[in-house]
Parts: sequence; structure tokens; C-alpha cells
Amino acid sequence: MSTDQNKFFINENSQISDKVSLDMSNLPEHIAIIMDGNGRWAQKRKLPRTAGHKAGIETIREIIRTCSDLKIKYLTLYAFSTENWQRPEGEISALMQLLVYYLRKEINELHKNNVRIHTIGDISKLPQAVIEEIQSALKLTQHNNGLFVNIALNYGGRDEIVRAVKILCEKVKEGELDVSQIDEKVFEQYLYTKGIPSPDLLIRPSGELRISNFLLWQMAYTEFWFSNIYWPDFTKEHLIQAICDYQKRERRFGGVK
Ligand code: FPP
Repeated sequence: MSTDQNKFFINENSQISDKVSLDMSNLPEHIAIIMDGNGRWAQKRKLPRTAGHKAGIETIREIIRTCSDLKIKYLTLYAFSTENWQRPEGEISALMQLLVYYLRKEINELHKNNVRIHTIGDISKLPQAVIEEIQSALKLTQHNNGLFVNIALNYGGRDEIVRAVKILCEKVKEGELDVSQIDEKVFEQYLYTKGIPSPDLLIRPSGELRISNFLLWQMAYTEFWFSNIYWPDFTKEHLIQAICDYQKRERRFGGVK
């Protein structure tokens, strides 16, 4: 049993509680999360939606710590989609400020814990302060080899695929690549997620049962886990439950057992 109170409470038999036990040899390598329900969490408490996003940051902290403790390799968080620009200006700006606040406040602790920060999506369209904070986080943590935290920012799965097609078309036009050379492996090299394995497990809290333009290519064989809990109420116990349920799934990748 871990003696550090801040550490994840897992014992030698991988027993989390009376009810839940994890198979440490069958953990998902990559977990992706749609952090949904912040707005409804706030509305329920008669608070502004931004209060929900602020509370959502606390959950991020706990989930990153738990994933690190479990030695999960990749965690991808959907923080801002290409469609989120349609939200009211005040909410967009609050989200951008929260990102800066989060990175400034947490980056040293993340770095100390060997976390590597990475982003997917077109960050060039984000406010300058966010870009600078991200760049410094990427630089500071670039050599870390613990949990790889991949933040999806101004990210959309369709946009990512179209972008890859355009780059490939340019390559073909310039004669650098022949159409016959293009296959799935080559195509993947032009996605934002180049070099990152596909998610094994997608978690979406808040009761919505869709993937909302998240990692469309990469989730071809991802196991989905949904729950009605709003993201600010999501705890490490929910994460453990999701992993436990994942461990009961039979993954066949289109083959037979
Ligand atoms: C979805 O809830 C949540 C978002 C669009 C933003 C998530 C962002 C954060 C938690 C903060 C910043 C992120 C990082 C990585 C520091 P919603 O607003 O769609 O909720 P609703 O469906 O209840 O309206």
C-alpha cells in the first residue's frame, strides 16, 4: 500500500476498494476524455457556466494525478473544439483565461511529476497569452517520460483529417509522394496525433452519448465508457470504475477471439 496520502490508494493485490480491483497488467495505454457537463453542473447550482469550467479544472488535477500513479502512458483531454468558437464570447474568453491560469499554476508540479504536456489542434488561432503559456509548458516538459498529457485545443476530428489530406495532396503535387504509397500508416503521419497510439478507452461523462468530432480517425476501435456524472463531479473512483469496465471488454479489432 502506498504510504503517501496524496498518492493513489492501491494495494499489492491491485485492490482499490472492497468492490473494485484492477488488473495492472491490462491497463489502457491511452485514455481519452471528453470533459463534459461543466455548464450543467454550474446551472444546477445557479452559478455562471464559467464556474463549472473552473470546477472542472479541479477534476483535471485529480485525474492527471491518478493516471500518473497508475502509470497510464497517454491521457488526451478535449479542452476546446473547433466548434466551441460558437459559444458566447465571454465563455470563450473565460476558458482561455482558465487555460493560462491552469498552466501557470500547475506546470511546475506537473514537471516535478515527470508529466509531459503536448497539444493537438491548431493552437495558432488561440490568444497570444495562451500560445505563450503552452509553448513554455511544451518546452519545460519536453524531455519528461512519465504521463503524456495531450490537450486538444481548437481541435476537431474532421478538421484534422481535411488538414492531413491537404498536406498529402501538396506532397503528391510536388512529386514527393506517389498516390500508390498512401496507406493508413502513411496517412496517420499527417494527423496531429502522429506517434501517439490510438486511445484504448474513451470516457465521456454528463450523459451525452456521442463523440462530438473528437479523434474520429483514432477511435476506430476505442472502447467507449459513458456516465451521467458531470465532469466537475467526476472523481478518481469513476476513473477506476471506467478502467475496470474496460478490462471486462473483449477487444477483437474486427477479428475473432
Ligand atoms: C464541456 O462542458 C467542457 C468544455 C467545452 C471545456 C472544458 C475545459 C476545461 C475544463 C478547462 C480548461 C482545460 C484545461 C485542460 C486546463 P460544457 O460547457 O459543454 O457543459 P454542458 O454540456 O453542461 O453545457
